[in-house]
Amino acid sequence: MSNTRRPLVAGNWKMHGSRAENSALLEAMTGQLDKLQAEVLVCPPFVYLAEIAGRLAGSRIAVGAQSLCAESTGAFTGEVSAAMLKDIGCQYVLVGHSERRSLFHEDNELVARKFVAAQSQGLIPVLCVGESLAQRQSEQTFDVIRAQLDAVLALAGIAAFARAIVAYEPVWAIGTGLTATPEQAQAVHAFIRKHLGTQDAQIADGLRILYGGSVKGSNAAELFAMADVDGGLVGGASLKAAEFLQICAAAG
Ligand code: 13P
Repeated sequence: MSNTRRPLVAGNWKMHGSRAENSALLEAMTGQLDKLQAEVLVCPPFVYLAEIAGRLAGSRIAVGAQSLCAESTGAFTGEVSAAMLKDIGCQYVLVGHSERRSLFHEDNELVARKFVAAQSQGLIPVLCVGESLAQRQSEQTFDVIRAQLDAVLALAGIAAFARAIVAYEPVWAIGTGLTATPEQAQAVHAFIRKHLGTQDAQIADGLRILYGGSVKGSNAAELFAMADVDGGLVGGASLKAAEFLQICAAAG
């Protein structure tokens, strides 16, 4: 972690929760973050967003969506636009989560279009990148991540990264209990910052890069201690208030 970049901890609830469970989770977090410096964000499923954004308006916790449509309006049944997310009070949106990429066939170009769509409405995209186990084992990690970044750079330009977050989520660490070691995470985070820094050192230096993949209360502090790890994107552990609060506290 650096002194200049404000830490951020984001909870990606994925397709979990109910109105009652969400309410209990947020209730348990109320007032517990006041002493922390870290920014805290929750990303509930679409159907709960408006209610939660209303409940958390003006509070210590920001609200983000888990995805969005690349198109702005029209005949796209089942989709949700950036303007709609903005309208109901979202501030952030995940783009290119590995589950979107692998299960819903989102390629680098579509992810780049979603990134641009989000920013067009003033939402802050959290661009998720990461390699699969096979890609890591065949030493393609940096090539994969470079290509994921380059697609966004090509469409949005480096200046767009001044209003974005990047999350490094190795696919092999998501929901598996296998966490990247702090050194593995740091190596990729440093690579991301260096790669973007070749285009604009100041923007790269100010960019917050989160680590995601089996972040827990027990391993958050050692991950967040790394120089280029600016917080976490937390899945399973963000559904348990006490553990999520422990992770937020580890971010400072
Ligand atoms: P887990 O923390 O459950 O591994 O999920 C990580 C993730 O995908 C967050 O977006």
